[in-house]
Amino acid sequence: MIKKIKGTKDYYGNDSLKFQFLIKTLEKISYEYDLEKFITPTFEETQLFSRTVGNESDVVNKEMYTFFDRKNRSISLKPEGTASIVRSIIENKLVYNNEKRNYYYITQMFRYERPQKGRQREFYQFGVERFGEDNSYFDVETILIAKRILDKLSISQYELHINTIGSFEDRNKYNKVLNKFINKKIQILSKYAQEKFHSGNVFRIFDSKDEQDLKILKKAPLIYDFISNESKKRFVELKKILDKLQIKYYVNERLVRGLDYYNDVVFEFISTDEENLGSKSTIIGGGRYNHLINKLDNNIDVPAIGFALGIERLLLASNEFLKLKIEKELDYYIFVIYDEIEMKLKALTISEKLREKGFSVKVNYTNEKISKKYSLAEKEKALNVIVIGKEIYDNEITIKNLKNQKIERKKMEEIL
Ligand code: HAM
Repeated sequence: MIKKIKGTKDYYGNDSLKFQFLIKTLEKISYEYDLEKFITPTFEETQLFSRTVGNESDVVNKEMYTFFDRKNRSISLKPEGTASIVRSIIENKLVYNNEKRNYYYITQMFRYERPQKGRQREFYQFGVERFGEDNSYFDVETILIAKRILDKLSISQYELHINTIGSFEDRNKYNKVLNKFINKKIQILSKYAQEKFHSGNVFRIFDSKDEQDLKILKKAPLIYDFISNESKKRFVELKKILDKLQIKYYVNERLVRGLDYYNDVVFEFISTDEENLGSKSTIIGGGRYNHLINKLDNNIDVPAIGFALGIERLLLASNEFLKLKIEKELDYYIFVIYDEIEMKLKALTISEKLREKGFSVKVNYTNEKISKKYSLAEKEKALNVIVIGKEIYDNEITIKNLKNQKIERKKMEEIL
């Protein structure tokens, strides 16, 4: 038997209904913030990701699905969405006149990671990317989009973590000092931390869950001490606005994010729902990336901010809420009583007319017993059953409301 590939998932039945409900909610929130849907290809030139997400990041370094096409070009399946949108807005000159652009996307991403709860090799991301505005109010508004998603889905077990990582120059300075510190302790750090250090990815040591690592990291120098006064001022302003709006947050000085393109404010919504998601799982992550466009095209410099969330993690976090929301309904279940061509044709025409009016309709054309057809209608959660019998020769049909069990005979025109 052929089975699905490790780290992928099939959605059907209730899972598919929950998925659909989530997508609808995300689309609705995107509409409320006037975000425009952006669709980019599933694969891109590999160098797009190495130049944006960064060669040293785990995502590019270890997790990409990269292959050579028939003309020997290196191609990668999208591991994230920001790089593709930035590539596209440069290619299509969408921000050359300082236009403000606000986009969202919902699509599959691919990362070769060890699958576990809420972590897959093919997963769905909803993301928001906003270009052309650079101020703390806009930053807070972006964080609020993310928060609204969690609130709308009644997800309350989370913490908002924020940090500032300053400019690239600030980060380089910090990187050197942190490297020195880690180098001195490398022998007593975990294998995970040693690996990160030797692959030049010293920031990622902060993701370690090893107790000894955490103890040592508590004494590590902090990025905050290396960032410019301007970045600090900006961070203070952001916190003030969040305070004014009474939005609870934690300043997490060890939050550095795993992708290279960020500057200044970064944020994550971290789940505290251990039962459904496991410990400290990040549902949403994002931040400013004011220099990414310039890195790919040095003719323009457009500030940007965005975030992305994993739909699988959102599904796990809102599972109880979604269970209540996914009541499947069918407006009409239609069946014939006799095995007569005339009746089946009538069933076909009535059902098409009802669908034209926007109702959901299912027809049973088989010779199954009437009692079976009724029980199937109930199983389908039909609101009404239309029974087509001899009365169609008087241009009438029988309709039963399954909620109140009322049975009526109606003229065809009346129904339609
Ligand atoms: P990221 O932190 O790499 O950021 O991913 C964002 C979210 O995608 C994560 O918080 C998680 O919910 C989900 N995710 C990541 N990997 C997996 C996986 N293997 N399985 C399931 N879910 C996963 C980005 O991708 C940035 N592009 C976000 C961004 C947009 N920053 C600015 N704009």
